[in-house]
Parts: sequence; C-alpha cells; structure tokens
Amino acid sequence: MANGESESGHPPDLMNKLTSLCKRRGFVFQSSEIYGGVGSVYDYGPLGVELKNNLRQAWWREMVHRRADIEGLDAGILMNSRVWEASGHVEGFTDPLVECRNCHRRFRADELEGVQCPSCGMSGTFTEPRQFNLMFKTFMGPVEDEGAVAYLRPETAQGIYVNFRNVHETARQKIPFGIAQVGKAFRNEITPGNFIFRTREFEQMEMQYFVKPGTDAEWFEAWMERRMDWVRRLGITPERLRFYEHGADELAHYAKAAFDIQYHFPFGWQEFEGIHNRTDFDLSRHQEFSRKKLEYFDPASGDRFLPYVIETSAGLDRTLLVVLADAYAEEEIEGEKRVLLHLHPHLAPIKAAVFPLVKKDGMPEVARRVADSLRESLPVFYDETGSIGRRYRRQDEAGTPYCITIDGVTLEDESVTVRDRDTLRQERVPIAGLRQHLQAALEADPL
Ligand code: GAP
Repeated sequence: MANGESESGHPPDLMNKLTSLCKRRGFVFQSSEIYGGVGSVYDYGPLGVELKNNLRQAWWREMVHRRADIEGLDAGILMNSRVWEASGHVEGFTDPLVECRNCHRRFRADELEGVQCPSCGMSGTFTEPRQFNLMFKTFMGPVEDEGAVAYLRPETAQGIYVNFRNVHETARQKIPFGIAQVGKAFRNEITPGNFIFRTREFEQMEMQYFVKPGTDAEWFEAWMERRMDWVRRLGITPERLRFYEHGADELAHYAKAAFDIQYHFPFGWQEFEGIHNRTDFDLSRHQEFSRKKLEYFDPASGDRFLPYVIETSAGLDRTLLVVLADAYAEEEIEGEKRVLLHLHPHLAPIKAAVFPLVKKDGMPEVARRVADSLRESLPVFYDETGSIGRRYRRQDEAGTPYCITIDGVTLEDESVTVRDRDTLRQERVPIAGLRQHLQAALEADPL
C-alpha cells in the first residue's frame, strides 16, 4: 500500500474530497441546501447532469440499441397499489428498525455491531426491532383515505412486468427477450449515507430478460459476464471489482439466486449492481392478482409457460459514484499538485475546453470562433480567466479530456495546441481539422 492510501488504493479521505470537488465544480449539490438540506437527497449540477446523462446513455446503448432482443420502456412512477401487493413489497419490503431509548436515533438492526449505540455510546438501550416498510406512501386524488393510497415505486422492475404482454405483443419479440428501463425509484431508507451511495430518491437502470424455464441458469451466467464486462469497459479498475454471491439468508423475497457486482469503495466492498434470478415469481403473482393471463405461447414447440426472469439491476447514482471514486486522482507535476478525474472520454461532461493563451492580440476572438464551431458537435467550454495553468487545473478537476489553446503561433498558421488530460502531451493541430481530430480521439475508445 502506498503511503497514505486507503486499503482500496484510493487517496486518503477520498469521500470528503470527492464530496467537496463535486460541490466546487458543480457535479452534485445537497438538495434544498439553502434550507439546511433534506435527508439524503442530492441534486446534480451542470457537470453532474451531463455525466449522469452520458452514463445513462452508455447503458441504454449497451442494453437496448446494441441488442435486437431488448426493448425499451418508460413506465410511470405511480402505479395501481395492487401492483405492490402482488410484488410482495407491501408485506415484505422492510428493514428491521430499532431506536436508542437514550438518544432516540434510529438504526437498522441488521447493520448494528453489538449492543452499544453508535451515536451516544450507551449500551442496552435499543428497543425491540420492528419491521419498517421502506416504501413512500401518498394519496391519489383529493380524498386521503385507504382506498386512495399510492406508493412511489421502490424499484422500476414492476413497471416492466405489468407491461410484459404489451411489449411482447407490440414489439413482436419471441422468448428469450428483454425489456429495459431507466427511472427514479424511492426508498425511505433508515440509514442513508455515504454521499450519493444510499439516498432516498435515486435512479435505477434495470433490464428484465424473459427466458424459458430451465434455461435460466445459463442466461444468469451470461448476464453476469456481460454486465461485468460493461463495467470494466467504463474504465473501472479491475482490482476494485468483484462478484459477491448472496447466501440463502440474504436473498430478496423474489430471488432464487443473486450475485452483486461490488466495488471496493473507500468505505469497503459494496454492491452497485445486482443480477437476480427472479424465476416466474413476479409474473405469476401479477397473473394471480390481476387475473390476466401472462403466459407465453411458444409457436415453435406449442408450449405455454410463464417465463422466468433474469434481472440486471444497477443504480445510476451509485454507478456514478463508482465512476467518480475510481476516476479521482492526485498527482504531483513539477512540484505542483493536481487533482484530476480520469473519466472515460464518453462519460466526461465537457469534451474539450478552449482557451486563448492571453486576453489580447485577437486571441479571444479566434478562441471564441473555435469554441462556437466545436459546440455544434461537442459539449465545449470556453475560458479566458486566470492563468493558463489554473485553467488547465479546473478542467482536470472536471475530467475534460482535451484542452485547446490559441496562442501566438495560431495567429500565424491557424493551428492550436491540444493537450491530453491524462498524458499531458500537447500536439499542434490545424483549426480546419480540429473537429475531426477530436472526434477521432473520442471514437478511439467507444463505450
Ligand atoms: N429490482 C431489483 C432491485 O431493486 P436492489 O438490489 O434493491 O434490487 C438495485 O437495488 C440497485 O439499485 C442497487 O445495486 C443500487 O445500485 C441501487 N440502489 C438501491 N437502493 C438504493 C439507494 N437507497 N440509494 C441509491 N441506490 C440504490
């Protein structure tokens, strides 16, 4: 372990550094900050929303556009509350909650080590655990009675199951095929924390793959491999990735088998994506509760069956935290420290920054012209304030892969310097060929 590094190989105190970089550079802000914040909800700023969009699009491209056998969907967050009875969430989506009688802080009983309160230090003060349902409840329509209860969805998966027939019939897919969806999910977590790792409002990127029973184990393995491969292609350090198999006592109520993809965060190994064999649990429950046939008829064999489901379920915000934590680096160059985000160029919020070396001699005018023309095809950022070194550092912290500088030579021969964020190499490129140059560089490592 290098001096000062944590066990996961990250720089010391990474979570605090990352939180402060995210705020300083406009990636992530605390929700309702001017009112003192709200329990574990975060807002994505100008750079954060770009990064999040890029990650979501990369997932969509991988899971929908590249696959003839997967269709997209965007279902509502609010659903008929019977959905959550059928899915088992009303009854079983709970965590064991205890309260310290001394300081009145609440904890998840399964996360406590021993009888001592982690907040006030008193021993033996916990109440008996009671099951606490994590779903947010609200009412639909103007009357707030039991019949009007609605839930904010705690997972996007159910929107897919209830649309299984719609999608299968309209898209004319044959089994095996999948349905993918990205969207908000809400959980009233007892102990949210670690920045955007565990929040009460988050986005999921889920895909449900419907297969013939008996072929599920094979598909489960194939999806484990495929999903790990994608995570590696994002550029995540392979040594900080591993699979974790759920033991029988850890399996969710719907799962026959489950593997997490875990990342070695500064606070330990934790999941950010799960691959689950949900069997025909969800479809059979929806068939029972809705009294609508959800069976699949296989024209080739003449068989009729309820498909099994292999689910891949990733948190968008949590994957984004993996991307940020893994990209964060501190380097020393000629005695000066620089902080940078080694983001995959496809994920980087800004692809190129354009600077005039100095704010005179017509350089800003040329630089603005270059920035405006690039802006037609790429997100670019123009900056003329501060020393050139400071401007480079700001872009390093934003993860911008290329910085373009207009200098004295540009005025003579219409060429600019292009600086590479990671290697710090600079090369001269004619303005006329700049767009193609950047596009070729960005395409060199497609996601
Ligand atoms: N449909 C299956 C499902 O929801 P899960 O393991 O409960 O499975 C899947 O959640 C993923 O959603 C997790 O791996 C994580 O990335 C993300 N996730 C779950 N709860 C979260 C929370 N409170 N905050 C942020 N992300 C969360």
